[in-house]
Order: sequence, then structure tokens, then C-alpha cells
Amino acid sequence: MTAPAAIRLRLARPGDAYEIALMSRYLVEIGLRGWFWHPERVAKAIHLRDTCVVVAEVKKRITGFAIAEFGDTKMHLSLLAVKATHQRCGIGRLLVDWLEQSALTAGITLIELELRANNFGARCFYHTLGFQEVRYVPDYYRGQETALRMARGVRHAQPSNAS
Ligand SMILES: CC(C)(COP(=O)(O)OP(=O)(O)OC[C@H]1O[C@@H](n2cnc3c(N)ncnc32)[C@H](O)[C@@H]1OP(=O)(O)O)[C@@H](O)C(=O)NCCC(=O)NCCS
Repeated sequence: MTAPAAIRLRLARPGDAYEIALMSRYLVEIGLRGWFWHPERVAKAIHLRDTCVVVAEVKKRITGFAIAEFGDTKMHLSLLAVKATHQRCGIGRLLVDWLEQSALTAGITLIELELRANNFGARCFYHTLGFQEVRYVPDYYRGQETALRMARGVRHAQPSNAS
């Protein structure tokens, strides 16, 4: 298991787009038609002012990332993934905490996200972080798969076991 102290979070740079897109394809979009978060889309997200792309590094290698869009009152967590070799080390939680603190600073009160309804690992992860199930959204993914929408209010930073 990776020691949390060895995990560094930073904003993504344009040169990270291809690796982030690959992680999306193989960890999040696997089995879905097409490649939604392809490198050009990720690169565009990195440049957008209302979108935050953050990566987690261990020994200067990207091990996880998250993409979130900031609205006036809501943050939409569009993508989150951690490489299989580094899952269950606290990286996913650190990424969500980091975005949440940014949301708090921006005056945002709600975090929303969708995940594939059959993604039980991620579902447990979000439950652990205090998210609640809102509703199912049929055909959300390329008309192929149902999504589960989850949400929770933005909270002040709490001492984390992982840091
Ligand atoms: C979901 C995901 C982002 C979680 O990231 P992670 O870094 O492994 O999660 P953490 O280590 O921060 O987990 C925090 C807690 O969440 C819970 N949790 C995480 N993954 C879990 C799983 N697969 N099953 C059950 N509980 C889980 C645990 O309580 C865990 O704490 P613990 O390890 O001390 O028991 C990661 O598994 C992943 O990238 N999956 C593939 C892509 C994906 O499904 N993305 C989300 C949808 S977009």
C-alpha cells in the first residue's frame, strides 16, 4: 500500500491529457461504445476555466485523476479514476477531498456525479464518502447503460485518516 505522504496532487497539464484519457477509456469507459473522454476532450477540459482537472502522482507517475465542472452552486464530478495498482490507498478520497475544498472556496454547496449503475466498487466508495443515491438515469451512457446519480452537500475539511 502507498503511504499517503507519497501521494502528490496537482493540476493537470496539457501533456497529461493522453494518459488521463487512456485511464478513462480503460478504467471508466470500458465496454462502452466509442471513446468519450478522448485526449482532445481532456486537453480542452484542462484549459476550460470552469473545469478542474487534478492528478495524483506517486513517484512522479500519474496514478489517478479527477475532472470536475464548477457551476454557480453545484460541482459536477465528471470523472474519477485510480490505477488498479494504486486502488485502496486513499487516492480517490484525496482527489474528492481536494475538489471539495476548491468547491467550498468557490461557494458551491452541492456535489453531483453519475456512475454506471453496475459499478458496485465505485458505489461503495461514494457511499463511504457520504454520497447519497438520488435516482437512476436510464440510457445515460451512449444509450447503452443506466447511470446512478449520487450527490452530497459540500462539507468543511475534516481530519482525514489518509493524511
Ligand atoms: C472508485 C475508485 C475511484 C476509488 O478510488 P480508491 O483510491 O481506490 O479509493 P480509496 O482508497 O480512497 O477508498 C476510500 C474508501 O472507499 C471504500 N472503497 C473504495 N473502493 C471500494 C471498493 N471497490 N469496494 C468497496 N469499498 C470501496 C473503502 O471504504 C475505502 O476505504 P478502505 O480502503 O480503508 O476500506 C477506484 O476504485 C477506481 O478508479 N475505480 C475504477 C474507475 C471508477 O469506477 N471510477 C468511478 C466512476 S467515474
